[in-house]
Amino acid sequence: MHISNTIQSLAPYAFAEVDKLVDALKEQGITPIDFGVGDPIDPTPEFIRESLKQATDSHSKAGYPNNSGMASYKQAIANWYKSRFKVELNPDTEICSNVGSKEGIFNFPLGHLNPGDYVLIPSPGYPPYKQGTRFASATPYFYPLLAENNFFPDFDAIPEEIAKKAKIMWFCYPNSPTGKLATKELYEKAYAFCQKHDIIMACDDCYSEIYFRNNGATPPISALSVGRKGIVVFNSLSKRSCMTGYRVGFVVGDPEIISIFKKVKSNIDSGTPNFIQAAAITALQDETHVTEACERYATKLDIITKALAALGLDPATPEGTFYIWQKVPQGYDSVSFAKLFLAPEIGIVVTPGEWISDECEYKGQKINPGKNYIRFALVPTIEECNLAAEKISKIKY
Ligand SMILES: Cc1ncc(COP(=O)(O)O)c(C=O)c1O
Repeated sequence: MHISNTIQSLAPYAFAEVDKLVDALKEQGITPIDFGVGDPIDPTPEFIRESLKQATDSHSKAGYPNNSGMASYKQAIANWYKSRFKVELNPDTEICSNVGSKEGIFNFPLGHLNPGDYVLIPSPGYPPYKQGTRFASATPYFYPLLAENNFFPDFDAIPEEIAKKAKIMWFCYPNSPTGKLATKELYEKAYAFCQKHDIIMACDDCYSEIYFRNNGATPPISALSVGRKGIVVFNSLSKRSCMTGYRVGFVVGDPEIISIFKKVKSNIDSGTPNFIQAAAITALQDETHVTEACERYATKLDIITKALAALGLDPATPEGTFYIWQKVPQGYDSVSFAKLFLAPEIGIVVTPGEWISDECEYKGQKINPGKNYIRFALVPTIEECNLAAEKISKIKY
């Protein structure tokens, strides 16, 4: 069979490796506590599920949806964006629905890239930033997210010749996996850099609603508060409303860029099902369930960070997302330290940071920014987190 060069060049998906480790423990009769893959298992709130059930009747004529989203869905997004971020959006020209941000992020570059173009991508970062770039026949340039830079990009370290060829720069704040929130100063600096080089500033805000007031975080801001021309922001209902399986999200921002994205999408899929959009409208009109979800994550964060601090590790204090990006102690790297958690007597799955980071050229050196970190996704239940804390206390290093 003939297989495309693009598919043949793909490295194994990092989480396939994590799955293998989980399977190996299961074969030994151990049910591990899985902090590996970031797929929340909390049920979608009941009022949203009820809304979906009703919507299957109110949308009984299941014709193809409008590709960019129902008018009522785009209006609900505009209303939410205004009340949450104080940003006004025109529902017709500045909003497009997508089938979850993964779809949007992966397909978005197809509207803007040609061979020879570059995309500036954070490392560690969400894999579709680079795979969407490669599938669009362009080249990723990885910039590192380092503690010494507050997990922000070091714009001065991006070579001029790369910046000149770059067409898109990806940002993700609240940052997965470092837990860092963007500041207005960061977005202003990023916008100035992108405008100077005529680069689209593409922001993945899918964790914008998951932030930790107990670590001093205030509600994350939108990059659209610093400008509109050249900026797009992706968001979704997945994390905010425990709706990962619904596959519903949206992209907002510069109307010219949104119109190109609509063109791309109209050639790829036929839109988000109307009854799913109806459930998303219901979800966007409520904030109580979002606050409750944040409180659950904050409780889990507290349990696990205390257990890690008791081991004598550097304190990790994420401000948002549901990840802990834990520095490993001297003498270990991400894989060797993760293995201590995976030992059968501990049975905890974490992801080695280097598996989810790409090598970067930084200040004349090749570095892997995840080399000294392990990642916890706070998806097990609070009870499982308590059990994990007990097990963590038995780790010796
Ligand atoms: C950083 C980041 N961006 C985007 C997504 C995609 O989310 P969805 O496609 O469910 O909206 C995820 C999912 O895990 C993510 O971690």
